[in-house]
Parts: sequence; structure tokens; C-alpha cells
Amino acid sequence: MRILKHLFEKNKKWAEKMKKSDPDFFLNLSQQQKPEYLWIGCSDSRVPANQIVDLLPGEIFVHRNIANVVVHTDLNCLSVIQFAVEVLKVKHIIVCGHYGCGGVKAALENKDHGLIDNWLRNVKDVYRYHQNKIDSIQDEKEKINKLCELNVIEQVSNVCNTTIVQSAWKNGQELDVHGWIYNIEDGILKDLNVCITNNEEMTKIFNLK
Ligand code: CO
Repeated sequence: MRILKHLFEKNKKWAEKMKKSDPDFFLNLSQQQKPEYLWIGCSDSRVPANQIVDLLPGEIFVHRNIANVVVHTDLNCLSVIQFAVEVLKVKHIIVCGHYGCGGVKAALENKDHGLIDNWLRNVKDVYRYHQNKIDSIQDEKEKINKLCELNVIEQVSNVCNTTIVQSAWKNGQELDVHGWIYNIEDGILKDLNVCITNNEEMTKIFNLK
């Protein structure tokens, strides 16, 4: 199929519906974007940022990758964070994982998945930091879900440690970093209570000296 006609039809209907509820919707958006939130989430098709928190186009800046990982050398993710913090001046960065994440599950396996294993190595590192805790869980699903949570917390720490967030805080910019997890079984978000708003909290929550 060379042309995905049904998607263009859906797009047209959607654009009409948006214009019906607000005739200036696209005109206003075309002039500026002023999102308050940066969402860093998993690429999983069941975890679409805007829909989950019921926000319109223009309200949330989004970066997604497999298993919502923030790697210190990933220019893609770092560029998104820099633009969001320094230019858009978002007030919140949300790292959102989800239970039953296929990337996290694959990271727990001793199987060859090909190239993606290089990426999942970052999640395997999280497992290594918390190996005793994870290994003590018997149920396989619970084991994966625990690693999903710990992975989010680790990535929150990675966001906070970027030079971008560090200098924003140093300059007194208001910026909160949150760790959330989404349940694909009921559509409900859970706050993992690791919200960090400055370097002092960073030291407290992550037990760093
Ligand atoms: Co996932």
C-alpha cells in the first residue's frame, strides 16, 4: 500500500473537529508553542503522552525511546532536554515508565535480541545496581514491574545530573523533575514520589554524598 488513505481521512476529520471547537486553534499554535512539560517516555504505542494526561497539541514537549532511558551521551535526548529547558523554559520534566515494558523485560532476559541489546544495556545496569532486591522477587511479572519502577527512578537521577538541569538550577530556574509510572492494564498513572526540584533534594533522595 503506497498511500495510507485511511490515515489522511482520519487526519482531515480530526483537523475539522479541532477547528470546530476552536476556530483559531491551529492559527494560535502556528505562532508559538509554550508547553509547561517535557515528557520522557517509552516508545510503546500503548503509552501516548498527550492522551494519557489528556493534553492538547502544544501543551507537552515529548521525547520517547525504548524503555524511557536517559543516557548521558545520547545527543538526541540531551538536545530535547536542552531545548525544552533553555528555550521553551518548561517547568516540569516527567520521566514516565510503564508496567510490563517490553524493553525492561528483554533487559532481564539472557537472550540475544540483536542491536537493541546495546541500548538495553542501560537497563541491565539498573538491574545490576538493584540485583538483590530484584532477585528476591519470585513472581516474574512482579520482577519486571519492580525493574520498570527502579528504571524510572534511575532515569530521573540521570536527568537531574545532566549539565542542562544542573545549570538551570544553578541559575535559579524553576524546574521540577518527576518520576511516574503508567499501568497499561487500567490506564492509571502513579507518582513514584521522587520529585526533585533542586540539588539538595537530589542528595537526599538518591543518598549521594
Ligand atoms: Co516500554
